[in-house]
Amino acid sequence: MSTIAKQNYRGLYHFSPKEKWMNDPNGMVYFEGEYHLFFQHHPGGMTMGAMHWGHAVSKDLVTWEELPIALAPDELGMIFSGSAAVDWNNTTGFFKDKPGLVAIFTHHLDMPEGKPAIQRQSLAYSKDNGRTWTKYEGNPVLEHDTFIDFRDPKVFWNKDTNKWVMIVACGQTVCLYHSPDLMNWTFASEFGEGIGSHDGVWECPDLFPLAIDGDPSNTKWVMLVSIGADPAFVEGSRTQYFTGDFDGEVFTPDEDSIKVRWLDYGRDNYAGVSWSDIPAEDGRRLFIGWMSNWMYANKTPAEEFRGEMTIARELQLESRQGEIFLVQKPVQELESARVQVLSVKEATVQEINTLLKEIHLESYEIIAEFTRGKSVGFKVRVGSDEQTVIGINGETEELYVDRKASGQHDFHEHFLGSHSATLEALGESNDLRIYVDRSSVEVFSNRGQAVISDLIFPGLESKGIAVFGENENDLLISLDIYELTPSAEQDKN
Ligand code: FRU
Repeated sequence: MSTIAKQNYRGLYHFSPKEKWMNDPNGMVYFEGEYHLFFQHHPGGMTMGAMHWGHAVSKDLVTWEELPIALAPDELGMIFSGSAAVDWNNTTGFFKDKPGLVAIFTHHLDMPEGKPAIQRQSLAYSKDNGRTWTKYEGNPVLEHDTFIDFRDPKVFWNKDTNKWVMIVACGQTVCLYHSPDLMNWTFASEFGEGIGSHDGVWECPDLFPLAIDGDPSNTKWVMLVSIGADPAFVEGSRTQYFTGDFDGEVFTPDEDSIKVRWLDYGRDNYAGVSWSDIPAEDGRRLFIGWMSNWMYANKTPAEEFRGEMTIARELQLESRQGEIFLVQKPVQELESARVQVLSVKEATVQEINTLLKEIHLESYEIIAEFTRGKSVGFKVRVGSDEQTVIGINGETEELYVDRKASGQHDFHEHFLGSHSATLEALGESNDLRIYVDRSSVEVFSNRGQAVISDLIFPGLESKGIAVFGENENDLLISLDIYELTPSAEQDKN
């Protein structure tokens, strides 16, 4: 008989529900000083089940306060993924006195006798900053005759056409609709046939404009599409992106978008979408993803809760050699949680390891810079027989995360492995920015050009940190390590 020690896998600066199951982020919207994060939630179990919308709010994108459940299943079915937006102009007629929030989500209705489920789009509105919701009596507002998979509506107000736009997954494509009032929808176009990855069902799309290289007069549209897990592919569920133009009805992809481009090269950043209604003075496109993978999400080691979100990230477009790429950067708000534990410049691997011997951490950030062409990396969450290895292979110019010895893994045959992403040189050095928490690593390299987000399940005592190079005398240009201190609310155990 073996006794399994209690493993506390609740991240100290990641959102997780107080209890039970969570998957996709939903209805992310900023309103009156609060970032809202709704989420797919099964309050009755530790695996996917009767889906509700859970709810959390944050003022800083780092610490989250969980609020009561926002939306529960009804006679039209469970509440699947969707979005929320501020109806500033009262286009819906729901808000006589002041603007409020509208949620647009999929009602998923299971049918008896093995008949396919029905997925339709519905509305709910809130006049009290998302605390209570009323479902629209005219639900559903959009259905489809042929698609069985017809879900995850993301809406935004298009200033150029003075209409709402909805992008919604329909089988292995996305459909675009427009509407004056969120209730009456007109089909505009379909995108995706023969383009991008079709390794699984298309889910959780998003569509938004972004400035190229920070120049607001030069923008492109970005489309995110998540792809469900299929047993034929060991990668499981993943998110791809397209860049192109959008005229209010039709999305036209760039040449470079004909090939498959992934948002993240790790296994655990899925179903992510961006925040709606970020004030123009802020201007950022903020993103969060679900840090798991449908391949094993229902089986990961868990106690009170199962499911965490990634850290919040800023999405940007960067041009390199004539091609436009999506890059991800940790939001700057995370810097306010830092407590510096190490800062060195021009130090050798050996010197740094002497210092690191004294440092034992579970939730922290590493920022390192080293000469291009050098193979350098870190071992994190190191224990007697555990480690997660993160590095750059200088010869092949690849970023990698190797979780083969990272901790518990026997819940799925494909959990173990090493994941990599090709880097393009930015200059004479490479950089690594690594976020480590109780059950995750998120690695950003060369200013967010390559990103790998992976779950890990190390033992509680595995808190060692080490650096490695090709030899002990290799120099790092700089290295900073910050403990990321938990808020009392986040550390619920
Ligand atoms: C994506 C997804 C969505 C769906 C939701 C159900 O992870 O499959 O397509 O709406 O999860 O929880």
